[in-house]
Amino acid sequence: MLKRILEYAKPFRKTLIWVSFLILLMALLGQVEPFITRSITDSLVQSQGDGQGLFTYIGILLLVLLLVKLVQSGLNRLSWFLTNIFVIKFEAHLKSLSFDHLMNLSLSFFNQQESGKIISKLDRGVNRLISIINNSGMHFLPNVITAIISFAIVIYYEWRIGVITVLAFIPYIVINRWRFEKNSKLEHEEHQLYDRHYAHFYEVLSSMELIKAFRAEEFEKKNLRTFFKKAIRLRQEMENNTNRSMVGDILLELLSWFMYAYIVYITWQGQITIGTLILLVSLIQLIRQPLWQLNWIFWEVKKAQIGARDFFKIMDAKSDVVDPVKPLEIKDVKGEIVFDNVSFTYKQDAFNYFDKNYDEQTKNEQQDEERPKQIPRNLQVFKDVSFTIKPGEMTAFVGPSGAGKTTIASMLMRFFDPDQGKILLDGVDVKNFRQRDLRSQIGLVSQSVYLFSSSIEENLRYAKPNATEAEMWQACKIARADEFIEKLDKGLKTTIGERGVRLSGGQRQRLSLARTILRDPKIIILDEATSALDSESEMYIQQALTEVLKNRTSVVIAHRLSTVQRSDKIIVIKDQHLLEEGTHQQLLKKDGLYASLFKIQSGDLSKLKEWDLVG
Ligand SMILES: Nc1ncnc2c1ncn2[C@@H]1O[C@H](COP(=O)(O)OP(=O)(O)OP(=O)(O)O)[C@@H](O)[C@H]1O
Ligand SMILES: [Mg+2]
Repeated sequence: MLKRILEYAKPFRKTLIWVSFLILLMALLGQVEPFITRSITDSLVQSQGDGQGLFTYIGILLLVLLLVKLVQSGLNRLSWFLTNIFVIKFEAHLKSLSFDHLMNLSLSFFNQQESGKIISKLDRGVNRLISIINNSGMHFLPNVITAIISFAIVIYYEWRIGVITVLAFIPYIVINRWRFEKNSKLEHEEHQLYDRHYAHFYEVLSSMELIKAFRAEEFEKKNLRTFFKKAIRLRQEMENNTNRSMVGDILLELLSWFMYAYIVYITWQGQITIGTLILLVSLIQLIRQPLWQLNWIFWEVKKAQIGARDFFKIMDAKSDVVDPVKPLEIKDVKGEIVFDNVSFTYKQDAFNYFDKNYDEQTKNEQQDEERPKQIPRNLQVFKDVSFTIKPGEMTAFVGPSGAGKTTIASMLMRFFDPDQGKILLDGVDVKNFRQRDLRSQIGLVSQSVYLFSSSIEENLRYAKPNATEAEMWQACKIARADEFIEKLDKGLKTTIGERGVRLSGGQRQRLSLARTILRDPKIIILDEATSALDSESEMYIQQALTEVLKNRTSVVIAHRLSTVQRSDKIIVIKDQHLLEEGTHQQLLKKDGLYASLFKIQSGDLSKLKEWDLVG
């Protein structure tokens, strides 16, 4: 794992080496001080008379000390400067990498993940990776070298001190290990807790209307308090473990104290000079510092690895829909679409993508008691469905809610691939095209309207970045969006709020339609594109669209059958199958589901009586 982490830091190798070098240099300079102190002390204690020579000698030593200190502060600042710049660059690097990766993942991944959870995991993962590189990359090696040098110096002067100091660390390390084991489990729990609630509160903030309508404010407030209560409890438990591991610190202090006492004893015995006494005392400090830091870094890195795993999990997520190795070019699309024995099921088994992977890693981990494990429930949407959409024609899809009409649109866009069977565009399996090439040919007005919180103009430009104002107005006119945009103070420049909240439902739909019209695609899919509009506006749009759709393949999905009547072909789907197909007249004659739906919609009295809806 560490190898993989370092792999990410490769572009920053130079900076890392420089910083390590600086840290090492500073550590080495830090060793000068004890020696100077010893020399000064010994000279002061031993010398009698000869004031002039001593004065010069001590003067030089003090100057050297001053110089060392100045260089040290300079290096210190330089190393921090490099580190801070590195951290921000590394963060940008990691976040760009992960964002690129997310952008390339197929929709099924996002269908299964709350976006808040992804953000929470990415944030933590990136932070932990930075801390690993910071600690292990930059500090580990210099500290090892300092520890070795300090150890050599100490052994040279008094080997017993060296050995005892190292031994003193053994119980300390064992106890730290115990603490790590205890806390890493708690920490994982903490991560899960945060991810889940981050995702939830993220949703809460974007669903304020729902919260207010259902008077769920108190419930959500309580939710937050419960969450923090749990988070605090976990932290407290971790802190308690840390408290218990204080035994290690005490042992370490105790042993250091014994060494002090021993050194004082041998000085008193006259075995070493007072200067050496001071040197040895400083040496204990010298060897303790890097050892202590090594221990700390080691566990920090181990701890960070747990968080970094989240980052890798996101980076390891595979796309269900992949581009071909040798993509075919799309040229002069005619727009014939064929579904050839297509079967499709929305996959749900990867639901707990993150948790599932974790379960594999740590068996016997206690399950989260509040959230029952998602049972894979694979719901088949289509079974061996075949149909042809002729080029340049308008084909409509009709069927009960949940029959799979939107799914057909999604599969045409290759948001999902069929499990069996093929989808052909002009006779070529769509899997042979690059996804972006395919999508550049198809314009989708989706059933749920997606708008960004920027201005109307920026939302339109999403379809065509270099669109002129005239083109935008033209598209808006066809979608009948011009009439409400004209009334807005700032016209096209009006900002529409998150998800377009400042517009009415029908206005949002018209804007979304205008956006696709502006794209000017060869194939156009309208999934309930005018369902929120009044009948008059809808008729107007239908009329305006006639011109646009001429010689284009179009797919229209609608419950309101007046929208689909004039289609060249109407396909009725129900219960995983294609039920009926034909023109409006043919289907009426057939007197099946379509005819029945049509009768209800056109207010046929016998039908309404059948349902007891009229007296
Ligand atoms: N992203 C998804 N993940 C899992 N199941 C899904 C997903 N989207 C739709 N489904 C399921 O697939 C089936 C078909 O859904 P689809 O949205 O295609 O229906 P529809 O015909 O467009 O319905 P409506 O008329 O209500 O828009 C439904 O039973 C639905 O529960
Ligand atoms: Mg739908």
